[in-house]
Amino acid sequence: MKTNKIQRRQFLKQTMAAGTGLLILPGGVLSGKNAPSNKLNIALIGAWGRAKAHYRGLKGENVVALCDVDEKHLGYAAKEFPKAKHYIDWRKCLEQKDLDAVVCCTPDFTHAFIANWAMNRGLHVYCEKPLGITVEEARVVRATYLKNKHKLAVQHGTQRHAKSNFNRVRELILDGAIGELKAVHTWGNRQLRKEGYLPAKGKPPKNLHYDLWLGPSPHHPYNPEYFSGKPGANCLNWNMYWDFGTGQIGDMGSHTMDLAWNAIDAGLPTAIEASGEEFNPEVTPVTLKAKFEHPANNWRPAIDVFWHQGGDMPLSPMEYIDLNKINHGALFKGSNGFLIAHFDSRIILPYGKEADMTYYKPRSKNLLNPPIEDFQQEWIDACKGDLKTSCDFDYGGTLVEQMALSLVAYRVGEKIEYDGVSGRVTNNKKANEFLSKKYRQGWTIDG
Ligand SMILES: NC(=O)c1ccc[n+]([C@@H]2O[C@H](COP(=O)([O-])OP(=O)(O)OC[C@H]3O[C@@H](n4cnc5c(N)ncnc54)[C@H](O)[C@@H]3O)[C@@H](O)[C@H]2O)c1
Repeated sequence: MKTNKIQRRQFLKQTMAAGTGLLILPGGVLSGKNAPSNKLNIALIGAWGRAKAHYRGLKGENVVALCDVDEKHLGYAAKEFPKAKHYIDWRKCLEQKDLDAVVCCTPDFTHAFIANWAMNRGLHVYCEKPLGITVEEARVVRATYLKNKHKLAVQHGTQRHAKSNFNRVRELILDGAIGELKAVHTWGNRQLRKEGYLPAKGKPPKNLHYDLWLGPSPHHPYNPEYFSGKPGANCLNWNMYWDFGTGQIGDMGSHTMDLAWNAIDAGLPTAIEASGEEFNPEVTPVTLKAKFEHPANNWRPAIDVFWHQGGDMPLSPMEYIDLNKINHGALFKGSNGFLIAHFDSRIILPYGKEADMTYYKPRSKNLLNPPIEDFQQEWIDACKGDLKTSCDFDYGGTLVEQMALSLVAYRVGEKIEYDGVSGRVTNNKKANEFLSKKYRQGWTIDG
């Protein structure tokens, strides 16, 4: 079976490598990018909610397995993908022998598990954001990816990355439109206040396998409110709780930091400070401000990168610009000006004696970064071709690791120094306890 899989993979790669040429197969079947023989066999894990945004793209491939802890959701997805086998436990699903790839749209606290197990089985992975909910989870997934990058294509689900504004912001920063980069602020203003884990209420409906939903998480009693959100927005009903998510850090933080991350070529921060509202052992903070210190790289000096959430905001560089009107945005400060960006648009604000912009030469059209167009298709093409995606688990894993570090610094309440090679905090023993979390017995991230 293994040999068949490898031969199939080789075939998929070769037919893609053949580019536009059509290949005549025995029996006269035409091949090419969209030929039946050149389709990926995909497992969709977490088959409803956010998954619905993936249905259209997946219809061009073979969805051969559907997995969901809610049988009603399985039934819903089965109407879209009638040929797929059904599973309620993703561990069983990953045993299906004909799989090439996995799309993971489950809640945040299972992402690192599913992504890691899938890569360990030689499967390409598209994983919704955030890749994990702790520093350790992000690191494990990144490390497994780096070991397998010569044979696997992976994409972290920050699909806004495909907006052309991301490319334009990067080009402006790298080409010096605001002079030398000094600092970057990113923010998100979503505020979801919860008091604590929900009290026990009723029994899970028959269709919902609640114990599998909890999966690796410590036990919390069932309450229907965790499941009462609209498709694609139900995450807002559980992602604030420490055992299920990271709050806005991993939610909109994944997208908004991506806008900056794409333009600063950063690795892991060397020091992190964070402050916010009083610590609640059950719920992640609504209001938070974090500062990450990043060393210089080959085109910019050392910079501070900030994340503000839940009402904390950077100062506007000009009174007449109300940053509060941008719910999720980034502000780049340079030696000669500011760049303010939303996901779709940007403003340049030159300032100071040197702000005549004569120092800046816009690049010619042929040197613009090429458009991504369809973010999910980029991954599908990468699985069949050169394995290259815009947000692989090195890029996305580093971003998520940084964001998770802010919660560690917040919990210890002082500046932490971080060694990105060993993944350890070097000046605070207690902080190292918050880099990872305990899972329920029987669950391991590295299966
Ligand atoms: N990229 C984006 O713009 C975007 C937008 C919305 C949500 N998301 C992400 O998508 C994910 C899902 O969010 P949602 O609002 O759809 O959540 P949800 O609670 O509706 O869960 C999605 C689906 O996963 C199923 N599920 C839950 N646990 C499972 C498990 N262990 N195994 C298999 N299936 C399981 C649920 O029954 C549901 O059908 C989250 O991680 C969220 O951050 C991303």
